[in-house]
Amino acid sequence: MLEGIRGLDDLDVDGRRVFVRVDFNVPLDGTTVTDDTRIRAALPTIRELMERGGRPVLASHLGRPKGKVRPELSLEPAGARLAELLDCEVLLADDCVGDGPRKVVSDLRDGQVALLENLRFHEGEPENDEAFAKELARLAEVYVNDAFGAAHRAHASVSALPQLLRERAAGRLMHRELEALGHLMTDPPRPYVAVLGGAKVSDKIGVLESLMTKVDTLVIGGAMANTFLAAQGHELGRSLVEEDKLPLARSLLAKAQERGMEILLPVDVVVAGSLDAPAGRAVPVTEVGADDMALDIGPASVARFAESLRAAKAVLWNGPMGLFENEAFAAGTVGVARAIAEAEGFTVVGGGDSVAAIHQHDLASAFDHVSTGGGASLELLEGRKLPGVEALRS
Ligand code: 3PG
Repeated sequence: MLEGIRGLDDLDVDGRRVFVRVDFNVPLDGTTVTDDTRIRAALPTIRELMERGGRPVLASHLGRPKGKVRPELSLEPAGARLAELLDCEVLLADDCVGDGPRKVVSDLRDGQVALLENLRFHEGEPENDEAFAKELARLAEVYVNDAFGAAHRAHASVSALPQLLRERAAGRLMHRELEALGHLMTDPPRPYVAVLGGAKVSDKIGVLESLMTKVDTLVIGGAMANTFLAAQGHELGRSLVEEDKLPLARSLLAKAQERGMEILLPVDVVVAGSLDAPAGRAVPVTEVGADDMALDIGPASVARFAESLRAAKAVLWNGPMGLFENEAFAAGTVGVARAIAEAEGFTVVGGGDSVAAIHQHDLASAFDHVSTGGGASLELLEGRKLPGVEALRS
């Protein structure tokens, strides 16, 4: 996974400007960052570069402004939060290319950090435009990519730009992500159990197919489990079931049986009449009523999944077990999160919702690796090459 990719140790950064692609695509409430996990995750690289005399020039996207300047997607709030966390001055440029940013980076002093404005305010970023990348390249001598969360996008700052700056490396976060996910892909300790959740099978077909060839047990929860349960012939009332994915679910179940690998599905679910119901009730999967919607896995399923997780030597988790945003349907996700946190094996969690759930319940420190990439980690686990990773290789 890391072949041909240099790390920070291989770079000479003293007195040099270092373009650091970070993923500060963080949730905002107006001008307040409501979850600073991704900003914190970039701190080790930024601090190390500063300690070694480098001058970090940080760049990120935020949201999907589609080449237009959208003030509500400014990186200013992220910069303010970064300044608090680093306890140093963060100079925010008013753009990411042109005279303004060039002046900011040339005035940069030791102990200061520059943050460029949202890369996606320019179409050149998503279009992986060479001329735009050349403009970015004028801002630094050295390139570091620490934006694992954006590594699956073939965009200028992660794809064209590193080809233009010969001195390039993966930052500490990128390195950690590739090491942890690479470990699961190439030499996972066994038994290896993957827990997949979330709403739709269709979002996770690639990763389901790829994990089926690698894991010993695949645990499926969340609304996507409904499609598998329906494929087995269960009546699920008004629950979300992807009818067009029933043949796929049947074929995956049959393949698992041929290969002798185990797929664990819920044995009970928490049902209610609506998504905002104040409470639900647990019923066996054989007893879902015609008006019921399955909105979480039930306690017997949590216990069954936990038993398998206890024996696991490696665990990958992606996707919640139910509609955890509503407290009434959060117990399945929290129960599985706790079971993984208690597992002795090597544990990795990825995907925005599962990561949010473990943060809400203060379980992050019990995991060996909490990935900052949702889409990126899934694509990597599918065995796809990520443009932002490939561009770092020499
Ligand atoms: C993410 O939040 O998953 C990354 O920052 C990538 O964002 P994108 O899906 O808008 O490219």
